Amino acid sequence: MTAASTTSSRPFVYPRPDAPLHCGSVSLEKLAREYGTPLYVYSADQILERLALFQAAFADRPHLVCYAVKANSALAILKLLAERGAGFDIVSGGELERVLAAAPEAAARVVFSGVGKTAAEIDLALRAGILAFNVESQGELALLASRAAKLRIRARFAIRVNPDVFAETHPYISTGLHEHKFGVSIATALAMYKSVAKSKWLEAHGVSVHIGSQIASAAPFGQAVERVHSLVRRLARAGIEIRTIDAGGGLGIDYHTPLPTNPDGAAFDPARRVHAYAKALNAALDGFEGQLLIEPGRFLVAQAGALLTRVLNVKRNGKKTFVITDAAMNDLIRPALYQAHHEIVPVRSGKTRAPKPRIVDIVGPVCETGDFFARSRPLAPVEPGDLLALLDAGAYGMAQSSNYNSRPRPAEVLVEGKTARLIRRRETIADLLAPEVS
Ligand code: LLP
Repeated sequence: MTAASTTSSRPFVYPRPDAPLHCGSVSLEKLAREYGTPLYVYSADQILERLALFQAAFADRPHLVCYAVKANSALAILKLLAERGAGFDIVSGGELERVLAAAPEAAARVVFSGVGKTAAEIDLALRAGILAFNVESQGELALLASRAAKLRIRARFAIRVNPDVFAETHPYISTGLHEHKFGVSIATALAMYKSVAKSKWLEAHGVSVHIGSQIASAAPFGQAVERVHSLVRRLARAGIEIRTIDAGGGLGIDYHTPLPTNPDGAAFDPARRVHAYAKALNAALDGFEGQLLIEPGRFLVAQAGALLTRVLNVKRNGKKTFVITDAAMNDLIRPALYQAHHEIVPVRSGKTRAPKPRIVDIVGPVCETGDFFARSRPLAPVEPGDLLALLDAGAYGMAQSSNYNSRPRPAEVLVEGKTARLIRRRETIADLLAPEVS
């Protein structure tokens, strides 16, 4: 059974009771031997399956899925998605260069978000001919107008509105309230569109919104898009025709789903979640004939990825047991930064069903108490040399990694069908030292 043939929540399975964890049909033990650890492993099939879920859910209206590059900017993943027609949501000149390197033909399917774009970044995007700039302030609109005039390239823009909609998520990744730095109020947006209606170099193309990330319920997305749609109607009455509504990203996954030994036992159903999301958006868009853009990041790639790590040591301090791994907070910062939960499972299968799990902290070698992946977590007994997989690490894992403690970043492997290939080699110390002088 391949991940592409199901809507199971993850591609990581124990194919037989005595077999180690696999990604699709590829053994993670084998990958760890071949490429070393820590190692990010991604399933291409799973990523494409998720993209297809969105594309099918919105098949009845013109739409474009603009993958949020920030979630995982590996060139191979960008290329994979571009080949299936995806566009991209970028937030920097660097992310645009990545899209151009992976899939130059996708430039026309790029939207550029972010509260602080520089003139150089705007110029790069204008020259590349991107689909639209998601503008977040009056100052940015003025800068865009002056760069477009200077380069003599007409700029399509959408104003990102802040809909003042509350969505339940971690405070660091909630964005849709007036107290947040993102977007402008609907009244300000209206005035901004009117103020540039006669501009030679600016073309009002869309309205955009993004209320936050890791949002489970569909309702807030519907509320936000309803407000955007009503702004679009007001703009039409003022003679300003809007062609796209960009609903942003943010659809969440369930990080607490235990790994089923039987894939049919999966509690989290991605297809159902996309269905509810599409239903809420489609209801809010009733009567809108333009194109819908969405900017999912996490939902496409998070569950396609795992971080493989080897146990270096198991140590007891008083009552506590620490499992020390060769991966650390610099490789996956989500637990330290957002108190995020990642399921952690032994790669060797027999041990997953060991009768007596121990309560342990799973920690990395970085010199900070915040360097942990799990605290007081039941885990089957492990020994030095054993492999663990940190699940749901495909989004905001490698993308948020760093060289803290002068640790080279992990290698990345993409599993496509029955084959696995290295898509980023492990960094070396020489890579780290290269830009410096002493
Ligand atoms: N569009 C915009 C304008 C965004 O700011 C974001 C994410 C997305 C789309 C994609 O959101 P997604 O579909 O992935 O939820 N590092 C955090 C998440 C930060 C999200 C920032 N913005 C984490 O690890 O949970």
